[in-house]
Amino acid sequence: MISKNLNVTLIGAGYVGVVTAACLSPLVQTVTIVEISQDRIDAINSATPPIYEEGLDTLLKTCVSENLRATTQYTSIQTSDIIFIAVGTPQNSDGSANLSYLMAAAETIADEFAKKHTDYPVIVVKSTVPPGTTKNIVEPIIYKKNPNLSFGICMNPEFLREGRAVEDFLHPDRIVIGSTDTKTREVMHVLYHGIGAPIFDVDPAAAEMIKYASNAFLAAKISFANEIGNLCKQIGVNVYEVMKGVGMDHRVSPYFLNAGAGFGGSCFPKDVSALCTVAREHGLEPTLLSAVLQVNATQPLRMIDLLEKKIVSLAEKRIAVLGLAFKNNTDDVRESRSIPVIQALIDKGAMPVLYDPMAGRAMKALFPDAEYAASAESALMNADGCLVMTEWPEFSKLDHEFAVMKERVIIDGRHILTIDDAEGICW
Ligand SMILES: NC(=O)c1ccc[n+]([C@@H]2O[C@H](COP(=O)([O-])OP(=O)(O)OC[C@H]3O[C@@H](n4cnc5c(N)ncnc54)[C@H](O)[C@@H]3O)[C@@H](O)[C@H]2O)c1
Repeated sequence: MISKNLNVTLIGAGYVGVVTAACLSPLVQTVTIVEISQDRIDAINSATPPIYEEGLDTLLKTCVSENLRATTQYTSIQTSDIIFIAVGTPQNSDGSANLSYLMAAAETIADEFAKKHTDYPVIVVKSTVPPGTTKNIVEPIIYKKNPNLSFGICMNPEFLREGRAVEDFLHPDRIVIGSTDTKTREVMHVLYHGIGAPIFDVDPAAAEMIKYASNAFLAAKISFANEIGNLCKQIGVNVYEVMKGVGMDHRVSPYFLNAGAGFGGSCFPKDVSALCTVAREHGLEPTLLSAVLQVNATQPLRMIDLLEKKIVSLAEKRIAVLGLAFKNNTDDVRESRSIPVIQALIDKGAMPVLYDPMAGRAMKALFPDAEYAASAESALMNADGCLVMTEWPEFSKLDHEFAVMKERVIIDGRHILTIDDAEGICW
């Protein structure tokens, strides 16, 4: 078997689905993306990424001209060797993972298989899901409508980072294949052969848990650095020197130790919450994981505390918020640390003026009545204060732009500014 003979369908054209499809396209025969949003399909078929990701536009142009297409129709499932489920698994109000999109996708696969299927199709769960989901929820859904079908089932978590997604997909530290049957493992090894990364074979529940534990560990590193940073600020120690020294220990590594306004995004907050729920369902109180979330919830509001130490009342004050995306190089605002900060400013009667190089449009859906600026400088115009929330490189170059502020009160939540008189959240 060679990967060039494989036909692949991906369900869900989000950050993971589109990047996976585009990166797999050169390795396989055909790639079909099935998505419910017609806008996303039109964008993909005209070689325009529906999300912003560095390098994705160039890659997509080649794929669309060769073997990749997007559609609302699920029929390609019938002729695919591998069907990836890459739909969202957002957070329910009780903190657990919402599996409704995943289950709907599995039902659709089952319906298509009932009409026609390839010899031993393999269903791959790429979405992040609680341990047990692939075997206990997805597999039975397929089996119930296709009791006589021989099919493979696999959990293959994704570790890409938004903003570097293409690079991460093509050069991962490891590829985790969660499956118990040899045939499925063989197909997955063939598929990923061209990527050339170490493959770690485990069972599906371990693969599911590896993803949750990885995210929880990285989130814990950030909250740890933030708590140490808060203490460092209080006692006048430079947390960046401290964490550099800590990270020089190979057992720790220097990554994810940047003290600042906390973590956001579509993964860390929801995945840590979901893991807490799993622990409680099994009679364990996740003391450490709860603290990780607690530090993260209070961290951005420290920006407001610092602001209020310098500006007695925020009512009617113009506050420039620089950075709306949850991190740089993305237009994603999901769980961005800017959201609680903007909300707190509004609650206190302030007038936030928002600017982001990429994510203004996405944030408008959450704060439609807020004022949006076209540049950092226009956000700063006559501002009484400024909060820097995202580590966009362009903010590191800001200097004379601050001169247009009414009052020069600048709080840096990301250690990105290079001017001398900004106050850091943790330094
Ligand atoms: N975004 C990341 O950086 C990242 C990284 C690793 C893992 N993950 C995980 O991967 C999964 C997907 O994440 P995402 O950020 O790409 O999600 P997303 O919300 O950006 O995209 C999901 C897409 O699936 C589509 N969809 C939902 N149900 C569908 C259906 N039945 N048929 C067709 N399309 C359907 C939606 O319209 C949407 O476009 C999640 O479980 C997430 O936790 C995300």
